[in-house]
Amino acid sequence: MNYEHVLAPIEINGREIKNRVVRTAHGTNIGQGRITDELIAYHAARAAGGCGLTILEAASVHSTDMGTLWLHDASVVDDYRRLMGRLAPNGMTVFQQLGHLGYEGVTADGGPPWSASELAGPSIRQPAKAMTADDIAELTDAFAQAAQWSVEGGVHGVEVHIAHGYLLQQFMSSATNQRTDHYGGPWENRIRLACEVVGAVRTAVGPDIPLGVRIGSEAVGDGGVTEHDCAELVMVLADDGLIDYVNLTYGSCLRPHKIMGGMHEPPGYELESAAPVVAAVDLPAIVTGRFRTLAEADELIAKGVADMVGLTRAHIADPELVAKSVAGRESEVRPCIAGNDGCVGGLNRGRLSCAVNPAVGRELDQPPHQYSAQTGRVVVVGGGPGGMEAARLAALQGHDVVLFEARDRLGGAVRQAQELPTRALLGDICDWQERELNRLGVDVRLDQPADVEAITATRPDLVVVATGATGAEIPEISEMPKGATAVVDDRFGGYEALGLAEWLATQGLAVTLTTPGRRVAANALLDLVVQPARERLQSLNVKIQTKVEIPPQADLTLTVTKHPHDPLSADLTNAGLNAQVIGDAQTPGTILTAIAQAHTIDFAD
Ligand SMILES: Cc1cc2nc3c(=O)[nH]c(=O)nc-3n(C[C@H](O)[C@H](O)[C@H](O)COP(=O)(O)O)c2cc1C
Ligand code: SF4
Repeated sequence: MNYEHVLAPIEINGREIKNRVVRTAHGTNIGQGRITDELIAYHAARAAGGCGLTILEAASVHSTDMGTLWLHDASVVDDYRRLMGRLAPNGMTVFQQLGHLGYEGVTADGGPPWSASELAGPSIRQPAKAMTADDIAELTDAFAQAAQWSVEGGVHGVEVHIAHGYLLQQFMSSATNQRTDHYGGPWENRIRLACEVVGAVRTAVGPDIPLGVRIGSEAVGDGGVTEHDCAELVMVLADDGLIDYVNLTYGSCLRPHKIMGGMHEPPGYELESAAPVVAAVDLPAIVTGRFRTLAEADELIAKGVADMVGLTRAHIADPELVAKSVAGRESEVRPCIAGNDGCVGGLNRGRLSCAVNPAVGRELDQPPHQYSAQTGRVVVVGGGPGGMEAARLAALQGHDVVLFEARDRLGGAVRQAQELPTRALLGDICDWQERELNRLGVDVRLDQPADVEAITATRPDLVVVATGATGAEIPEISEMPKGATAVVDDRFGGYEALGLAEWLATQGLAVTLTTPGRRVAANALLDLVVQPARERLQSLNVKIQTKVEIPPQADLTLTVTKHPHDPLSADLTNAGLNAQVIGDAQTPGTILTAIAQAHTIDFAD
């Protein structure tokens, strides 16, 4: 495929962008507020991979919102210069997003966050301070100052964040703006702050610097900002000659699962809400929405849906997405599986990561294809995601690799998990790993449950035991009458129990999901994963009962646990072999933990 549409350059206010692939803003916290060498290396890897436009993570412009990147003093100018100097050789255009979380912000001095009115944010839950006229003036200046520092540091453009239910949308929404001054009440008043901020930023950066807005519907029930409100606002901004492009998004801090749609959302799930805004103005428009391939982006542009397309998590998963695709190596692109465990989950734990790519944020110290000085034979037992990752890394480092898999197919427990409703994407990472093992010449031996004798016969220098865990299987229910009762008892805390309950309900069983804990799937992301799953379970009439020690009687009871399955490592050690246990065989977890553990193996040992 030649990708002629997505690879065509595009101009935004005089700046030519080399292609139409966008990494939209995403908080990383890699630099913990600063532009560090690690953060620079993260972006440099993606610049080298061929991305056209990167919008840097929402920068906090004021100390009442200590986000993941701070634009609070002039020292950032030098940091930007280092960043832009490093990125320049690859010709990637870089814009800086400027924002304020409003009532979701954490303040530097521990005081109340700022908002339009004295409401508490859904996560922070601390009543905000209703901003005074002085606060509003200070904030507007802070946006302008931050924009000026960005541009002084060499950033090519700036974007004002008017989305996701954060500060500027808190002013716009009648649900969160209860003011009686000229920033509250009628629509013209509620958009005043957004217009003033964009106007101040335009004045600060001058007429020749690209300036856009990130915008999208956040409406939940009555009173939220709808896509039609967004369309009206961008028309006002465009009519005033303030903006050069629009960048569409969806969802809010009240509905984060719509901002970064999980694997249950179809690709393009944001497009319907984006359409009225794209149509409202004659400016370049960026759309996003769980897209993963250059082919999807090319088609959207060809059809005139948008001018540029966000492939954001797709680039977290594989920095070389564009380069590989352009070279006709699409099958080598490591796929994002849209589980959000590594990226959003990583941020929640402290910094960005990725379930399928643990090198994220560690680009400085982990060159991905480095050959070891010393190579030998590595045997991997078990072809789930952890075992395959170990085999892949060993092969990349030049080792001679044999992988034993007891079943007739690679993928381990993922092959069952991907059969559960909405979970098909999980299989994509195992398919990719399998293709990579073939490409790298790994000796994959299916249907071969390895024992010590067979392993010793291969004369390994290192044996990686990745034999997984035992746990609940998808049951055989074809004999069960419609309406039979089933109990799924969650004793593990991962997604598995939710998925099995949903699957059983879709098969016509009357399902109760229980847990002895305070919530089901306690270790899965609450907002992004559990909440949408709960909504689906509700529509299937699945009952959820928490703090249940003894589950009710039912025709079918499934207890969801996982126990490490390691029948080999002790015997291998006794036989004098060097064995390392990884993944579920060591500690039952997720795809993320299995793959991450493979990256901790020292193959040169
Ligand atoms: C970890 C993470 C952090 C994000 N932070 C921001 C942000 O700072 N500003 C913003 O406008 N959007 C943010 N987003 C939303 C993304 O820009 C994008 O809209 C979303 O990931 C959907 O696009 P995708 O399916 O191509 O990933 C974030 C997304 C992720 C995954
Ligand atoms: S953690 Fe998951 S959703 Fe996030 S980028 Fe990686 S694969 Fe995609």
